[in-house]
Amino acid sequence: MPCLAITGASSGIGYATAKRFYEAGYSVINLSRRTCDIAGVINITCDLTDPDFIINIESDLSASMEDAETICLVHNAARLAHDTIAEVSAPDLRSVYEINLVAPAVLNRTLLPTMNAGSSILYVGSTLGEKAVPGSFSYVTSKHATIGMMRASCQDLAGSGVHTACINPGFTDTEMLRDHIPADVMPEIAQMSAYGRLIDPAEIANALFFAAQNPVINGSVINANLGQIER
Ligand SMILES: NC(=O)c1ccc[n+]([C@@H]2O[C@H](COP(=O)([O-])OP(=O)(O)OC[C@H]3O[C@@H](n4cnc5c(N)ncnc54)[C@H](OP(=O)(O)O)[C@@H]3O)[C@@H](O)[C@H]2O)c1
Repeated sequence: MPCLAITGASSGIGYATAKRFYEAGYSVINLSRRTCDIAGVINITCDLTDPDFIINIESDLSASMEDAETICLVHNAARLAHDTIAEVSAPDLRSVYEINLVAPAVLNRTLLPTMNAGSSILYVGSTLGEKAVPGSFSYVTSKHATIGMMRASCQDLAGSGVHTACINPGFTDTEMLRDHIPADVMPEIAQMSAYGRLIDPAEIANALFFAAQNPVINGSVINANLGQIER
């Protein structure tokens, strides 16, 4: 059976992705602090900002993937903080980089030995991986690095039969967006796509499912933003 190992499937895009893959016959393993409540999903609780998170979960993770024919590893969990160049502290910056960058690298290293040809490593990036807005310094820099990590992964994995891609969502209707954008500004945000609405997390899940199935997109940055309108 193919296996999806995903970070942050307790809500939002991760939840929708867990559902999409589970319904397609994958076993699904979620790594996050809260659980994913989809029946049948295996939850391995962890805090990805903890530099030693892998020590506590490594044996459970390996055991849960023992029979996987192929693995799709999706790096989805992330932290979006309000910060700027002038005020960001080193500990806060490290904490964002820990979950957004270091945890994916650690999970790659841990799972690669068990990833057979046909497996994939998918990164959930952001439109802010290729441009910047004010007030999201740590997030913008980390999402730029996510694209770099995906490209480096592609080069290092050449010949392995494991492919990779980075899906960059636009404004998607999730907790992260609702926590970041005041409710009265949300209608204006929805108008920033060519379709005049927010993206449903299930649409990003579909893009991730497509990327897992199609190694021809190896090394690609895929924008999934309904056509973001630039101002
Ligand atoms: N929503 C958007 O508009 C948008 C746009 C561009 C990119 N994205 C990207 O999409 C991805 C998913 O975000 P989302 O919008 O679906 O947000 P979300 O609904 O808030 O989900 C974030 C997930 O990350 C997990 N997470 C957060 N901190 C964690 C930690 N310390 N340890 C382990 N897991 C942690 C959360 O699980 P727990 O709280 O249970 O730990 C949750 O499952 C992120 O990479 C985000 O940057 C989102």
